[in-house]
Amino acid sequence: MSSFDGVRSQDYNVSRFGNVSRFGNVSRFRNVSRFENGSPTTVTSVADDSTPRGDDSGAIPWPPIGEQTDEMMRAAFPLRFGLTEGKVALVTGAGRGIGASIATLFAAEGAAVVVCDRDIDAARSVVQAIQSRGGESVPVAADVTLEDEVAAVMSTAIDRYGRLDCAVNNAGISGRFGSFIDLAVEEWEEMLSSNLTSVFLCLKYELGIMAAQGFGSIVNISSGAGVIAAPGLPHYTAAKHGVLGLTKCAAQEFAAKGVRVNAILPGTTRTPMIESLIGGDPEVEKRVSRGVGRGSIGEPEEVAEAAVWLCSDRASFVSGESLLVDGATICR
Ligand SMILES: NC(=O)c1ccc[n+]([C@@H]2O[C@H](COP(=O)([O-])OP(=O)(O)OC[C@H]3O[C@@H](n4cnc5c(N)ncnc54)[C@H](O)[C@@H]3O)[C@@H](O)[C@H]2O)c1
Repeated sequence: MSSFDGVRSQDYNVSRFGNVSRFGNVSRFRNVSRFENGSPTTVTSVADDSTPRGDDSGAIPWPPIGEQTDEMMRAAFPLRFGLTEGKVALVTGAGRGIGASIATLFAAEGAAVVVCDRDIDAARSVVQAIQSRGGESVPVAADVTLEDEVAAVMSTAIDRYGRLDCAVNNAGISGRFGSFIDLAVEEWEEMLSSNLTSVFLCLKYELGIMAAQGFGSIVNISSGAGVIAAPGLPHYTAAKHGVLGLTKCAAQEFAAKGVRVNAILPGTTRTPMIESLIGGDPEVEKRVSRGVGRGSIGEPEEVAEAAVWLCSDRASFVSGESLLVDGATICR
């Protein structure tokens, strides 16, 4: 693995507390790190206080600082506010579903993204979509239940980008519904390996890298089944509860080393995992939706918003937290 000599957080962070104030001085957009040919480089004067923004005609008037409206800001900066501008992010299980949405949002917010999945074709197509919008990304094939493959993913991230700012440990599987009595020990072991050991292995390497850097933020994807029972899924419930235990331990051990660790507990979210249960039947979707507080299932992009925010510097005082993103379903 590469050495971390010479890595200094101030070389890369635009601002410890984010890149933009909605009504503040837009000169904060200066000195933004971008990625060119896979390497971080610093570009200056992304925006300049005196220059009208928007289309090339300069049709949008730029009022004095403090008088910009939300509408003007959206028109002037139609993409994103660069929540993770210049950062390096790793997402596991990013070939589809929630992981793909998180990877895509990281890139839209300015991060270089390592897209990890055991399905390399799926990872490649997510990377191609990111690159087609001008983003920086690399696909990596790995089964995150295997330590040597996890170590190789981390090496790829460090060799290519020199550091790791953000990691989302998202890869996981669903299980067969049934009674405790019918649960085969092989099913139990596969579930624990895929949904808990995988998170432990990723944390082991990510925490080592981030502690050596002195900065970093990790999000583990648990589930509502991390805090309440998922009936008929004792193995899934146990694994997702375990993810919260790992999250709390890691957050406390590494807090003073500049590393934050949080968990997201998604509610039922429209991904291939859930679509396979719904089977394209609107009646089944209605029944599933009735089990969600707001009356409709979540979209993966909604989970991604929470994950990317937690990884960003905007969440600098949040660590050891488990955030329900479930449309008021559980309400602890
Ligand atoms: N979708 C939901 O309703 C929901 C709700 C709560 C929690 N979650 C959790 O969110 C995460 C993502 O779920 P999803 O619905 O997007 O799932 P999904 O099945 O749609 O996608 C999961 C992705 O992870 C990859 N993957 C699985 N095991 C892997 C392994 N060992 N190594 C590498 N890649 C692996 C798969 O190839 C796939 O691309 C999971 O941890 C899941 O338990 C999902």
